[in-house]
Amino acid sequence: MSLINLAVLISGSGTNLQAIIDAVETGKIPSAKVAIVISNRAGAYGLERAKKHGINNVVLDKNNITGLLETLKNHEVDGIVLAGYLSILPPEVVKEYKNKIINIHPSLLPKYGGKGFYGIKVHEAVLAAGEKESGATAHFVDNGIDTGTMILQKKVKVLKSDTAESLQKKVLKVEHIVLVEAINKIFYK
Ligand code: GRF
Repeated sequence: MSLINLAVLISGSGTNLQAIIDAVETGKIPSAKVAIVISNRAGAYGLERAKKHGINNVVLDKNNITGLLETLKNHEVDGIVLAGYLSILPPEVVKEYKNKIINIHPSLLPKYGGKGFYGIKVHEAVLAAGEKESGATAHFVDNGIDTGTMILQKKVKVLKSDTAESLQKKVLKVEHIVLVEAINKIFYK
């Protein structure tokens, strides 16, 4: 089986990226390579994670569509993973990589998804609504925001004692599991 070349797009700390790197290195994601890490923010700590693992990495402005398409092509990317990427992918990229782009979202979509629902805001909304459960969702990326077909979801209990921060921590752990499982489910079928 030839190696699956993955592109991972980030904007921040990159803990989801780290989960993918670890899974590739331990074989939990078999026969794959993180061919390129792309960040729209120069200061994203995820870039340091890539450098530590000798993984190609580049900063590209979110409006640099040509640069993004060229980078993906030059690295012969088979699949794209949005791992904390806080920007909307250009439709040209969504079209070019139709059904090969996965996003991870920190809620049980379709609830608490879409415009304005990202990072701690998601968990604040879940608590404000008095939800008894939350979780993480991996889904295909289409031209909407968190609207693509669902791939996988895992739940966590919301406790009365939870704060937005404690819920975020709980959900983040589950995101890492969901993302690795979704990659195996989609890119190896
Ligand atoms: C996480 O909450 C994730 O759900 C969202 O971006 C946040 C940062 O993730 N997609 P990471 O630590 O940068 O992977």
